Amino acid sequence: MIQEHSLFLRGPRVVLRPFRELDLPFALVWYQDKEVLRLCEGSGIVARSVGDIRPIYEYLSQHGYLFIIEVTGEVIGEVCLERMNLPWVRDLYPGERIYRLPIMIGDRRYWGQGYGTETVELLLAFGFERLEADRFYIPGVWGFNQRALRLWRRLGFREVTSRPVILDRWGRIDETDEIDFTLTREEWMARRHGSKAGDE
Ligand SMILES: CC(C)(COP(=O)(O)OP(=O)(O)OC[C@H]1O[C@@H](n2cnc3c(N)ncnc32)[C@H](O)[C@@H]1OP(=O)(O)O)[C@@H](O)C(=O)NCCC(=O)NCCS
Repeated sequence: MIQEHSLFLRGPRVVLRPFRELDLPFALVWYQDKEVLRLCEGSGIVARSVGDIRPIYEYLSQHGYLFIIEVTGEVIGEVCLERMNLPWVRDLYPGERIYRLPIMIGDRRYWGQGYGTETVELLLAFGFERLEADRFYIPGVWGFNQRALRLWRRLGFREVTSRPVILDRWGRIDETDEIDFTLTREEWMARRHGSKAGDE
């Protein structure tokens, strides 16, 4: 079952609202788009069915805040403020409250217009201010996903590790890197104060 929360987060242009059962058909379209899958998934990618994606969203909804991203009333993607589930990341930072942020603007017409940046900014503020997060950790961004790399770097994330990886997709081999990023509460606050001081 998709567990629904009741939280709405609003930015200047973006609205994050609870992901509902009725939103699965939107996600199904994104999970059948080859270019979206190329950027988000690993090896052996196939277009997904509702039966494939339902457990993904059930899991996310039960382990964090799962949102639909809307712009002027249009559904453009989804994002989850997810409690860190990878034991090796928790072992790296013992005792810390860590979140990850899987994001998919599934409607390609909305890429590159700042909506991803605005979405992540809203969730960083919510995570650090309201959930008392110590750290965000983004595992496994593909080295060819320029938009995602620039998104995390621009928001102050630091590269932690980079591992070479070989992906086998649709019979084609892609050699790339898998890059992890992190941002701590202190780093986020320092940036915030820095930009406020700069604004005055
Ligand atoms: C990655 C994603 C969330 C970024 O959101 P977005 O709204 O498209 O990106 P933004 O407009 O906020 O821009 C983010 C950065 O990418 C840059 N960018 C935009 N289009 C670009 C392009 N075609 N090539 C390279 N960089 C690009 C922007 O200039 C910006 O960097 P800057 O601030 O240093 O200038 C979104 O594109 C997406 O969901 N893509 C598909 C799924 C995916 O890749 N998920 C992330 C997995 S880690």
